[in-house]
Amino acid sequence: MIHKFNPINKNKLDNEWRRENLPPVETLEKLGLKAGDIFADIGCGIGYFTIPAAQMIGDNSAYALDTSPEMLAEVELRSKAAGVKNIETLKTAELDLLIPDESVSFGLMVNVIHEIVDKNQFLEEISRIIKPGGKLAVIDWEKAETEMGPPIDHRIAKEDVVSMLEELGFYWQQTLSFTENFYGLVLVKNS
Ligand SMILES: C[S@@+](CC[C@H](N)C(=O)[O-])C[C@H]1O[C@@H](n2cnc3c(N)ncnc32)[C@H](O)[C@@H]1O
Repeated sequence: MIHKFNPINKNKLDNEWRRENLPPVETLEKLGLKAGDIFADIGCGIGYFTIPAAQMIGDNSAYALDTSPEMLAEVELRSKAAGVKNIETLKTAELDLLIPDESVSFGLMVNVIHEIVDKNQFLEEISRIIKPGGKLAVIDWEKAETEMGPPIDHRIAKEDVVSMLEELGFYWQQTLSFTENFYGLVLVKNS
């Protein structure tokens, strides 16, 4: 059975362990986020990546997309505290990201894909919002036994994520490793 992250555990999304494994600014730089990007954080949680990304891209929009109103309320609190004004929070539906076609130059999805039942349809919806030539970066748990994280049979191997996205018209650009716990993938949507 698919397990959804419970907002009651939101402190697990920003703590010392996470900052060691996935330092937010360094991770976004490694994935290739640039000033001038139009950014969407798909399944943004509390905004651990959305807020630094919004600061990195300048005045453009950073969309914080999540199905959980509790998570989005936390993004709003945290972005206000950080003085960040270019984040637009949106409560999305399971398979509908609500923003216009081809409106995003850099999509990010961290620790979300393993929570989705219909992965193919979700990735198709992500493809819809990304501009031709735009990027999608995916970070998720390595499909291996690690000290933390979901059970191995809930995880999805990086090769499977790449194959699904290739089927949907993306090409692979980069694979990264963030400690032994997480993989990172960067794919580009064909122009
Ligand atoms: C483990 S949390 C990760 C949050 C954030 N990406 C991070 O790394 O800090 C997974 C998030 O995905 C969200 N989520 C799950 N299914 C979703 C869907 N179909 N569309 C958008 N968000 C979803 C959950 O509400 C939760 O906030």
